[in-house]
Amino acid sequence: MAAPRSITRILKSLPNPCSHHHHRRRRASLLPAVVLDKRYSSNQQSRQPPHPHPPSKRPPPPPPPPPPHLLLAAADARPKLSEHHKITFDEKKTLVPWEEGKTSHFQHVWMRDHCQCSECFHPETKQRVLDTFSIPKNIQPDMVEAEEKGMKIKWKNDGHESLYPWEWLHLHSYNPRLERYISPQFKFWGSEIAEGPPEVGYDAVMESDSGVGEWTRKIHKYGFCYVNGVPATPGATKEVVERIAHIKHTHYGGLWDFTSDLSRKDTAYTTLALGVHTDTTYFSDPAGLQLFHLLSHTDGSGGQSILVDGFRAAKILREENPAAYRVLSNVRIPSHSSGNHDSSIQPYAPFPVFNHHPVNGELIFVRWNNDDRATMDRWDDPADVERFYEATRAWNDVLKRRESEYWEQLVPGRPLILDNWRVLHGRAAFDGKRRLCGAYISRDDFMSRFVLSNSKREDVLKAL
Ligand SMILES: [Fe+2]
Ligand SMILES: [Zn+2]
Repeated sequence: MAAPRSITRILKSLPNPCSHHHHRRRRASLLPAVVLDKRYSSNQQSRQPPHPHPPSKRPPPPPPPPPPHLLLAAADARPKLSEHHKITFDEKKTLVPWEEGKTSHFQHVWMRDHCQCSECFHPETKQRVLDTFSIPKNIQPDMVEAEEKGMKIKWKNDGHESLYPWEWLHLHSYNPRLERYISPQFKFWGSEIAEGPPEVGYDAVMESDSGVGEWTRKIHKYGFCYVNGVPATPGATKEVVERIAHIKHTHYGGLWDFTSDLSRKDTAYTTLALGVHTDTTYFSDPAGLQLFHLLSHTDGSGGQSILVDGFRAAKILREENPAAYRVLSNVRIPSHSSGNHDSSIQPYAPFPVFNHHPVNGELIFVRWNNDDRATMDRWDDPADVERFYEATRAWNDVLKRRESEYWEQLVPGRPLILDNWRVLHGRAAFDGKRRLCGAYISRDDFMSRFVLSNSKREDVLKAL
């Protein structure tokens, strides 16, 4: 391998908002840019390896405490190159020394593949245009230069010039990663949330994107939020929910609007009490958000809603009964929706109750509806049957503790929206006639709106 050679003069005038080396620049906005954690590999083995249903005889150890959450702070907007070390390259990679004392290693094939110019990366569609497979195997720079805007590389094979903005390089440095994690944005809650549940105003949500930003931020943080002052009609409800995203159509339709008449063959359409559950456990991709709006309740009473913070409950179970947590993280539960004659919906594979990020092991979503559980008839070890029932009993006990339960009566004009990947819902039995409408939004559509209503689009794009 050729000895590294120095190739640049580092410009002293690189953008640097502060002359003090130790002072780290704060982003101008109050909030850090919302950037999703898109890690796709890890030095460690996946902490939640794929697991068949039922569990193997030697279940893996319980997942570690959750690492920092899926939101990352973007790297410094104006990263600063070292003034004392120079950019160098050898036949495999370019080394970029930062003032903070770390040096990024960028392999040439990766750099060429990520050229940011408009010939290689479409400026409007934000898609790659470059034919990755036309890059010569032994691609080499002819010249690397630090410029004010970024690092310029002139490539040896065809003279193509690439310019990588400093901020982009710092943000996407992979060896090492330089991002800083921000602390979890979740606020766990129990019954005490009744004293001050998260809410936003109808006008704010309808009139401005910043109103939607506040709304999606609260939904993300607490797992639910009310909107106050919405006209108690299906039309107004549809308009308000569509401020987040288009409605996810299912076998129940788009915006559902029902009375307790069992028109759909599901317990939800009766007057019976419903234990806490998440919806659509029988989908491969369960609904991300669910909105409920009580339009009227006449000639009767009851029907209070109950919410339980599933992430908080999972944390409690893991601390009190790691064995139960492990079982519910590993046993895959088949589920279905087959009450209507024209559908029998099942996910492509059964899923456990606790679903974790495949790389970082963090709890991503809770999938729990005991009523929709299909027959579990595939066990390697009959002892797993008892372990499973013990685990679900322990889980059910945590969910049903008084301090887990947040009860509230829905009222017309105040729809409730909840994060169906986190918060479980149910209701008390009622009598009389209730008319309720609501809708689902997919998780991906919600996260897109959440990210874009709380960050500048350019910051989101930079992190792609
Ligand atoms: Fe439900
Ligand atoms: Zn290019």
